[in-house]
Amino acid sequence: MLGDDLEVSEIGLGCMGMSEFYGARDDEGSRQTLTAALDLGATFWDTADMYGSYHNEQFIGDFISGMSNKPVIATKFGIVRRPGAYARSIDNSAEYIRSSCEGSLKRLGIERIDLYYVHRLDPKVPIEDTMATLSELVKEGKIAHIGLCEVSARTLERACSVHPVAAVQSEYSLWTLDVEKEVLAMCRHLGVGFVAYSPLGRGFLTGKYRENTKFETDDVRALLPRFEADAMARNIAIVDEVTMIAARIGCTPAQLCLAWLLAQGEEVVPIPGTKKIHYLNENCEAPKIKLNTVDLAQLQQVIRRTPIFGERYTPEGMKGVNV
Ligand SMILES: NC(=O)c1ccc[n+]([C@@H]2O[C@H](COP(=O)([O-])OP(=O)(O)OC[C@H]3O[C@@H](n4cnc5c(N)ncnc54)[C@H](OP(=O)(O)O)[C@@H]3O)[C@@H](O)[C@H]2O)c1
Repeated sequence: MLGDDLEVSEIGLGCMGMSEFYGARDDEGSRQTLTAALDLGATFWDTADMYGSYHNEQFIGDFISGMSNKPVIATKFGIVRRPGAYARSIDNSAEYIRSSCEGSLKRLGIERIDLYYVHRLDPKVPIEDTMATLSELVKEGKIAHIGLCEVSARTLERACSVHPVAAVQSEYSLWTLDVEKEVLAMCRHLGVGFVAYSPLGRGFLTGKYRENTKFETDDVRALLPRFEADAMARNIAIVDEVTMIAARIGCTPAQLCLAWLLAQGEEVVPIPGTKKIHYLNENCEAPKIKLNTVDLAQLQQVIRRTPIFGERYTPEGMKGVNV
């Protein structure tokens, strides 16, 4: 459950990579993955208008068109891109929110968005104003719940003074623990759910990539400091530790990453991203792995003694987190 009343599956599905950021698209494979997700009960789907410059929403909209029992759809607004370009700006103005919402509703082919996130905060617009506009959209029945991405604890508190927030979505995984400083505690205090994005460290924590992996130019990881050759050579240490613990427990490293997130509290919902059925199947088995106190203590030790090298975003991207 996110917030007071948004019921979602224990594990969600991140759909971003079906459109861009992690290599070439495979629409047929992605459609099969969406079908399998419904069968497996992973019915909390995460998208955004900017993924593939509207492609991702349209793709999901086409897939769910005509379905009577649709998955829970979360989408986002606020990052403005020129189609095909990575360069971006942020807009949380009332006109932009309203026109973005109309666009998302149309592409998704739904009458109401289940969870509508501010993708990044616009420093020019006070959070109270953004929440007031979103609150009007709730009253008008265009969105059911409000979410915020990568916000600070203080911003979340201010936002909740205007309208309830169902979920904060930020990066959280065994190698990205920033939200443990303040944000998670504030979510718990205010009864706000927490959606963990990039729970597999953009795939790195699964052990699929090694220190010598080269990402193609159509892969965002080629731009991220944490995936630079020197950083990967050092960051492989945590992957090896996670892989060893997973082997002892009898699961895969990906499942261990997800089971660890699930063990952090009921309010935490991981949304691993994939366009492949076999990864989806593997990820959806994670809730069956129940970590005991020894497993959790061992992972805590690994976290404590293994430094992580390189920021998770470019310097420009880092300006948009914890604001
Ligand atoms: N709010 C935000 O700012 C924000 C930012 C980033 C992401 N998100 C959302 O969060 C979702 C999840 O994050 P993410 O996709 O970045 O990260 P992730 O789930 O940590 O990693 C995705 C990567 O891991 C691979 N993968 C997935 N399951 C695997 C497994 N079992 N074994 C090996 N590799 C596996 C995927 O491969 P394939 O691509 O080959 O399937 C993909 O390359 C996104 O889809 C998006 O909806 C939100």
